Amino acid sequence: MSADNADGNPRQTQAWGLLEQHARDNQAASVKQFLDKPDRYANFSLQFDELCLDYSRQRVTATTLKLLLQLADQRDVAGHVEAMFDGARVNTSEQRAALHTALRASRSPAVMQDGEDISALVEAERDRFLNFADEVRDGRRTGFGNKRIRRVINIGIGGSDLGPRMLSRALADGNAPLQVAFAAGLDGIELQELLRDADPATTLFIVCSKTFTTLETRINADAARSWLLQNLPEEAVASNFAAVSTNDTALDEFGIAHDARFRIWDWVGGRYSVWSAMGLGAALTIGGAAFRELLGGAAAMDEHFRTAAPEHNLPLIGALLGIWNLNFLGLDQNVVLPYDQRLEYLPTYLQQLVMESEGKGVRQDGATLDYATGGSLWGGAGSNAQHSFAQWLHQGSARAHVSYIGTVNGSPLETPDAHMQSLANMIAQADSLACGKSEADVRASLAADGVKPDQIDRLATQKVHPGNRPSSIILLRSLSPRNLGLLLALFEHQVYVQCVIWGINPFDQWGVELGKLQAKEYSTYLMADVTERLPGIGEQIISWKDS
Ligand code: F6P
Repeated sequence: MSADNADGNPRQTQAWGLLEQHARDNQAASVKQFLDKPDRYANFSLQFDELCLDYSRQRVTATTLKLLLQLADQRDVAGHVEAMFDGARVNTSEQRAALHTALRASRSPAVMQDGEDISALVEAERDRFLNFADEVRDGRRTGFGNKRIRRVINIGIGGSDLGPRMLSRALADGNAPLQVAFAAGLDGIELQELLRDADPATTLFIVCSKTFTTLETRINADAARSWLLQNLPEEAVASNFAAVSTNDTALDEFGIAHDARFRIWDWVGGRYSVWSAMGLGAALTIGGAAFRELLGGAAAMDEHFRTAAPEHNLPLIGALLGIWNLNFLGLDQNVVLPYDQRLEYLPTYLQQLVMESEGKGVRQDGATLDYATGGSLWGGAGSNAQHSFAQWLHQGSARAHVSYIGTVNGSPLETPDAHMQSLANMIAQADSLACGKSEADVRASLAADGVKPDQIDRLATQKVHPGNRPSSIILLRSLSPRNLGLLLALFEHQVYVQCVIWGINPFDQWGVELGKLQAKEYSTYLMADVTERLPGIGEQIISWKDS
């Protein structure tokens, strides 16, 4: 199956029409009634390895699933999955393969790209960057003047920042021999705050940029270089900088030492790159062995995705539930709520993965879409969310479905009771969204509390929870590197399946280009006070500048 067969409108499949009819016929379907069935959990949950997907609170029946699986079949998802793993140029607008799966695979079987077995390249580079991480961690590799590295600052943005930042937060055990921090923003504030108390000789910068042309990263990298050279001689660039990029010429110009530069390839998209040397910041936090466990988890999910039967295939089912929620129930927001504070950056990481991949309005065949793709993904640590935006989920005019994420065995920093309280809250939130509270129940509760009838009349409707708001719970046995690898690969493959069904390209991001080009032009006007070229808000900025 060639990747070009993603052409065509999915609405013209028989399954799409049947799903539309099914959604109309089941408008009154109630999650509460589904949950009352004794075998609901057994029939609407899946487990693979130490990851469990509970979708019993989704607005689906066995018929819904059957039709969704037909849709996957009629869009030849299986053929497209093979095409991706085999290195076909599934990124058709850039004529590139998308072989992030090869980054976590073991050496065999060979993965060919342009007549070359890339698995050997991947393995060699993996050994290099993980050895580098271990050498820095244990002091075999030092900074200027042979001083031990105590702080690492990762400079990168988007996929060259969010993955290692999220992993470092999630997996740091507090025993790392060095502190790993991240600087992304164009204004340089994050970087300057980190440099305030940094010691030049013991600080290692990793400049992560696939292209090495990204404005934000170039500005921060240049600022870091100047700061270093204000304090140390030129040779310090070789000892205190490392880089991950495809752009060797730029690395030569910057002065990155050959043994501190790590390769990435054009068949790895930025938001799929954390498995490559782009994960160096995370490897420095957790060490090479733990990083290999992370890769092992992702590889296990890859194998499952490739080989499990459709009805037991977690990424496939997860993706189809997303399609159902968006295209047939009109729920265009996915709120991700991890009930483990260590995963607080996960929603932001997933936001890039999902929204940069799925935020497309045109199919790969060039046709403008007449159906929704993607929707928005946002969220935050569940516990905090309960005290801020969860109200909107329960009683607002939300068009959202929720992905709860829980870890059964929590951090060693928590008491087991606190962790169980947290998980109890997660289930309670999911149940409240699903079952709600009817006006009759509200009235009965108020009456039982002795509230006067006229007050009950005023309060009752305000306390109603409509319910029937769908969610899934993804449960990990613990937050081990391996299990996090399973989880991230699950989300990646869900994105791929959805994009195949919609016929869009998950691996390009043309939408970020236009604004970038305009910003280049506008910055010259703002810097030179050219008000006539930037009327309106530009003029206002210039008039307030330096005041
Ligand atoms: O925002 C566009 C984008 O290309 C992302 O896809 C990517 O992760 C990010 O910029 C950073 O790119 P680079 O690694 O080339 O600096």
